[in-house]
Amino acid sequence: MLSVSHLNKSFSTEGGDVHAVRDVSFSAANGEVVAIVGASGSGKSTLLSLLGLLDAPDSGSIDIDGTQLAHLDATGRTKYRASDVGFVFQSFNLIPNLSALENVLLALEFAQWPKESRESRAREMLEMVGLNDQKAQRRPAKLSGGEQQRVAIARAFAANPKLILADEPTGSLDRSTGQKIVTLLRQAAATRGTTVLVVTHDDKVAQQADRRFEIEDGVLSELA
Ligand SMILES: Nc1ncnc2c1ncn2[C@@H]1O[C@H](COP(=O)(O)OP(=O)(O)OP(=O)(O)O)[C@@H](O)[C@H]1O
Ligand SMILES: [Mg+2]
Repeated sequence: MLSVSHLNKSFSTEGGDVHAVRDVSFSAANGEVVAIVGASGSGKSTLLSLLGLLDAPDSGSIDIDGTQLAHLDATGRTKYRASDVGFVFQSFNLIPNLSALENVLLALEFAQWPKESRESRAREMLEMVGLNDQKAQRRPAKLSGGEQQRVAIARAFAANPKLILADEPTGSLDRSTGQKIVTLLRQAAATRGTTVLVVTHDDKVAQQADRRFEIEDGVLSELA
C-alpha cells in the first residue's frame, strides 16, 4: 500500500517560486495501476521523482507498506532505490552496449539479488514480458521500440519492487504497441502485487488503468 499525505514541493527559479506539487494526498493498493494525467508543467514528473526518492519533498510524507520514506537512513534510501522502486521511461533508458538479458542482470546486481539465481530471475522476467531467449541476447538497437520497452519493464520488475513509476511509458510507441505495453504492466502489477503509477498524455492509456487522477498546477484530484 502506497500512502501519500500532504506532499509539497517548490522550486525557486529566476521567475519566482514554482509550487510544482501542492498538498498532494492519495493512496494506492498493491497490484493497482493508477494513471496520472495533466498538462505539461503540471507537476507529474516532480511527483514521481519524490516517490522515487530522486528528490526530497519540502513537507508531507510517503509511506510504503508501513515504511515512511523520510525515516530511511542513507543505506535504507540506497536499498529503496535499488530494490523497492522501479522506473520505466518514455525513452526506455536501456544501456546500449549491454544485451537485453544483461540490462536486467545489472538491475539485479544493483539490488544485491542472490548471485546464483540472477540469471534464472532475469530470464523469467524477460519471458514474462514476451521476449524469447534469442531476443534476450540482442542489444537494444537490434530490438523494436515496443521490445525495448518490454526489456525496461522486465528490468523494472526484476528486483520485485513494491512500486513502479512509469513516466510516459507509451510516449515513444504507436498506439497499438502502447496499449499492449499497458496491458502488460497491468498483468504484471496484478500478478506480482506491485503498485504502478503511470503518467500519460494518452486518454486511451489512462482508460486502461484501475484509477485515474488529474494534476493541475500541482494539485491532484481523482477523476470519476
Ligand atoms: N529542477 C527544477 N527546477 C526548477 N523548476 C522545476 C524543476 N523541475 C520542475 N520544475 C518546474 O516545476 C513544474 C512542474 O514540472 P514537471 O516536470 O513536474 O511537469 P510535468 O507535468 O512532468 O510536465 P511534462 O508533461 O511536460 O513532462 C514546471 O513549472 C517546471 O518548470
Ligand atoms: Mg514530465
